[in-house]
Amino acid sequence: SKTPVKVAVTGAAGQICYSLLFRIASGALLGPDQPVELRLLEITPALKALQGVVMELDDCAFPLLSKVEIGDDAKKVFDGVNLAMLVGARPRTAGMERGDLLSANGAIFTAQGKALNEVAADDIKVLVTGNPANTNALIAMSNASDIPNERFAALTRLDHNRAITQVAQKAGVAVTSVSHMTIWGNHSATQYPDLFHAQIDGKNAAEVINDQAWIADTFIPTVAKRGAAIIEARGSSSAASAANATVECLHDWALGTPAGDWTSMAIPSDGSYGVPEGLISSFPVTIADGKVSIVQGLELDAFSKAKIDASVAELADERAAVTELGLI
Ligand code: NAI
Repeated sequence: SKTPVKVAVTGAAGQICYSLLFRIASGALLGPDQPVELRLLEITPALKALQGVVMELDDCAFPLLSKVEIGDDAKKVFDGVNLAMLVGARPRTAGMERGDLLSANGAIFTAQGKALNEVAADDIKVLVTGNPANTNALIAMSNASDIPNERFAALTRLDHNRAITQVAQKAGVAVTSVSHMTIWGNHSATQYPDLFHAQIDGKNAAEVINDQAWIADTFIPTVAKRGAAIIEARGSSSAASAANATVECLHDWALGTPAGDWTSMAIPSDGSYGVPEGLISSFPVTIADGKVSIVQGLELDAFSKAKIDASVAELADERAAVTELGLI
């Protein structure tokens, strides 16, 4: 039988992971023939709760789950890992300034970047879900000089999936009719979900919808502010859908995007579409053999260009702030 793939997950006692770990162990991440070993990182006070989650994993008797190790020391937990999902992060609490948030997360992602650099397997891929995801990924990447930059990404797949469902519902079609969706920029309220290159049953989605006011005033803000709407309705932030997106993103990164479509992923810019090199910004991407390529040659009109530039400007600001804090 196949050698288990070692998957590290941080924030493992948190609410996203209460869905995520069970999806990974059931085979949703790497398919029904690939055993996995889970390496779960938490802060010390959460280890007891994490033991409870591990008891529940045991109680599922998942055939593909070869082993589970937990701990609060990144260098031990990340030893030899092939995939890392960095979910745990410091949330913004009342009265916290943006600088405080960036430095609290900076401490987490510098340490984890360094630990991955020292002990992860040579084929390591790192996906950051914990917010501010793009900048946390930038911090981890900048603190892992021996790992190629293209092995770091931040999650915008949840935004991508949200956009697909909004347009499918508007058009009255199944989600499977919607393809070529793109999220550009930051995983934040400035993100730009782009309908002008999306397709509905192979036709241009913006033309099928034919309602620029709906795109500008309903679709874009609904997708961009969906996280806040979930908190408002549920009393806590999106968890199962964030876990689903994390699994789907890393699944596609490991196994490739379907022929004839692309996905959205925040990856280090190579300067494409005027996004400054090195910023971790969301793009339309295709993936084959583990290699992520930005879809080239899409034409952007003034409306799209302005939206992308505004989100990228926010990423540049965040990069300047963490540079000033000495985190990268
Ligand atoms: P949560 O607060 O329920 O869980 C976070 C867990 O991380 C906690 O158990 C905490 O103890 C742990 N943690 C904190 N520092 C850690 C460290 N240094 N090492 C290991 N674990 C650590 O939060 P939840 O709901 O699971 O969300 C996690 C993150 O994902 C948040 O930052 C949230 O904003 C973000 N998120 C991102 C989305 C995206 O689309 N990119 C969507 C939804 C949430």
